[in-house]
Amino acid sequence: MSQLTGITGIIAPMHEEIELILEHTEVHSIVKSGQREYHCGRIHNKEVVVALSRIGKVASGVTAAVMIEKFGISQLIVTGVAGAISESLRIGDLVVATECVQHDLDARPMFSQFEAPLLGKAFFECHEPLQRKAMECCQALLENNFNGLIHPDDIEKFQLNQAKLHQGQICCGDQFIGTDEQLQRIRADLREVLAVEMEGGAVGQVCFEYDVPYVVMRSISDTANHQATVDFNAYIKRVARHYTWGLIDQLLR
Ligand code: ADE
Repeated sequence: MSQLTGITGIIAPMHEEIELILEHTEVHSIVKSGQREYHCGRIHNKEVVVALSRIGKVASGVTAAVMIEKFGISQLIVTGVAGAISESLRIGDLVVATECVQHDLDARPMFSQFEAPLLGKAFFECHEPLQRKAMECCQALLENNFNGLIHPDDIEKFQLNQAKLHQGQICCGDQFIGTDEQLQRIRADLREVLAVEMEGGAVGQVCFEYDVPYVVMRSISDTANHQATVDFNAYIKRVARHYTWGLIDQLLR
């Protein structure tokens, strides 16, 4: 597996998704900017900047921009959880994005649906070598039974031993998708999308504008329907942190 060089930026939107990563970071400084804390340090001897972006497109977009402008990161990894849009995904599955799009971006009739106005682009491609590396890490985590990170009771409860890896489109928007209507609308609008979250496409746009490689890797917490809130809360509490740390641990080894 090729090694990451330079400084790697790592973003997750919620405390539960970032806290184990922070616990494993040898932090040498914490820089405060825009009501966020950027933890500069090392993981497995690789330079990193780790930040809780908070949830949503503006929060994650500004976090990405600061990481690029202020810390000169060479690549950016977005991790956390996502809701399943495709019926082929189940809770506990992993998704590596090929490209990200903002499902709520709509400046018609001036621009086509989903297009970032005046940028001429709707789908923000993830860096292919980072996708390959992310896929290898996800595969290794699944093959090695989550590197012992997840309690056997939780593996059983969430049926994680059946977890699968997927690669494809991820969409984002400033909405939690938790009704069947919302789910059907996204399915109808974006037929190839596998999963939904609230940050990837915004970070993707920033990384495109600055020409910085990025990738999004997420685990599935819910099925983005009427059951989503209940599943999401249980998953965030018990499972999410182990997946995010497991993936970053594998990525930076
Ligand atoms: N992240 C995890 N699940 C989600 C959902 N259902 N909608 C939006 N973002 C999510």
